[in-house]
Amino acid sequence: MNATVNGLNIHYDIRGDGPAVLLIHGFPLSNALWAPLADRIGDAYQLIMPDLRGLGRSEVGVTASMEDFADDLAKLLDCVGLDRAVIAGLSMGGYVAMEFYRRFPDRASALILVDTRAEADAPDAAEDRRRLADRVMQEGSTIVADAMVEKLFAPDAPKALKQQWRDIMAASPPAGVAAALRGMADRPDSFDTLRSVDKPSLVVVGDADVITPPSAARAMHESLEQGELKTIADAGHMPPVEKPDRFAFVMREFLDRLK
Ligand code: MLT
Repeated sequence: MNATVNGLNIHYDIRGDGPAVLLIHGFPLSNALWAPLADRIGDAYQLIMPDLRGLGRSEVGVTASMEDFADDLAKLLDCVGLDRAVIAGLSMGGYVAMEFYRRFPDRASALILVDTRAEADAPDAAEDRRRLADRVMQEGSTIVADAMVEKLFAPDAPKALKQQWRDIMAASPPAGVAAALRGMADRPDSFDTLRSVDKPSLVVVGDADVITPPSAARAMHESLEQGELKTIADAGHMPPVEKPDRFAFVMREFLDRLK
């Protein structure tokens, strides 16, 4: 399905029936991240799965700040007639989820942060991202796909899974990838936001995640008043596709308790 939000054609899928859960993918991925979860919990929950602007099948915007993404998603919820939803995001999707909470706290019935972190980039890391954005515009998205693919997964992840996600990343439009890199470089620290969250919250992390490691998950968990922390064994940065059964179990267990 498609919706026009903030002048951009945004692609999204909706699956299932029940309480609404907005699922926000990471960088530079697509909503294919959530397909295994939709197969497993779509019987009990309505899952709204957008492609963020400039990624997947959504149109590229001039900018892609965390504010842009969060605002797109609030308008997408309007388009599908939802006032509130559980807000869930993986990695960059987590940065967007925290931004969404900052801007629209009343529209989040709960928060789920998967393989993400609350810290902003250190100045040199932010500069590296901006330089990478320039290179992506010259050389294409494959440089990001090739640099990231091994880091995304636990060491023993199937080769076919890595290849699938390398191809998805490589197919992302360079302008969308570059805009998201610049957006992430500019994102603020979110610990104050997490300390303000007065809703049930779940932090999930793969125990072999080297991009946003378990220590980052523990720091978020410690900042959340009503937070739970779940670790997925033998998963890297991509538990929804690396360990789909265990990930779906953890999600369902949390979501069922909100009912
Ligand atoms: C992601 O998976 O969304 C990114 O790796 C996050 C990041 O680069 O900070």
